[in-house]
Amino acid sequence: MRKALARDLAAHIRRLDEDLHISPHELPGGPARPAKKAAAPPKAPGAGSPATARAAAAPAPSGGLDSLETEVKSCRRCALGSHRLNAVFGVGSPSARVMFVGEGPGFQEDHRGEPFVGRSGQLLDKILDTVLGLKRSEVYIANIVKCHPMVNPDNPESHGNDRPPSPEEIAVCRPYLERQIALIKPACIVTLGSVATKVLLGVEEGISKVRGKWYVYPKTLFGGDADIKLLPTYHPAALLRNPKLKLDTWEDMKTLKSFLEGKTS
Ligand code: URA
Repeated sequence: MRKALARDLAAHIRRLDEDLHISPHELPGGPARPAKKAAAPPKAPGAGSPATARAAAAPAPSGGLDSLETEVKSCRRCALGSHRLNAVFGVGSPSARVMFVGEGPGFQEDHRGEPFVGRSGQLLDKILDTVLGLKRSEVYIANIVKCHPMVNPDNPESHGNDRPPSPEEIAVCRPYLERQIALIKPACIVTLGSVATKVLLGVEEGISKVRGKWYVYPKTLFGGDADIKLLPTYHPAALLRNPKLKLDTWEDMKTLKSFLEGKTS
């Protein structure tokens, strides 16, 4: 049984790697992990750190996703808006049951105006396809901040110019994401990496501690009709840096798949 599970897992991970030219030596070798103990009960977000501080409650949604996108494209609420090549609003189905939330656009995203289109994005697409059987057009993908945070904002054409968004940039941009969530009303949100997880959950623990468990994103935080389940997992960029994390990510995606198939609630 354990051997069959291990074979199944290895096959999935190899398929994830095929297009990314990651050496088979990087694949996790050992047997499949024992079943995890039951997930911790959903918990409400904590108070939040300065990095997760909110500028204000989300404004009540007005208009649909299209008008919100128009608003974001002309946004100059912070300096990122003056240096970006393109605002990166979000992509996917407006009626998606699952919404993936990353940190912020990088070089490729800034150039194309679409989230997760670089190497991390290719890996995310592969995970969606091989583990969940979904295309990016069937989910919704967005970021905490909508413009590319650059080390040197005067040079959007240079590579390796990425930095994490500042607490102030996060605070002014966050209401856009909250309005997206309120409009899309996904059944669940998957936060990709520690920045998105800390911002939405208000927790200080690292991603390795909180990943793979269900939490609640309360409706009061985004002006929605109902609470939304939230599952943190690793950022695809972390998997590219450390392929051993793919095993945990695979397990997290199976947890998501069970939820989407109605096997867990
Ligand atoms: N990383 C992110 O967090 N978001 C993107 O859109 C691309 C890379």
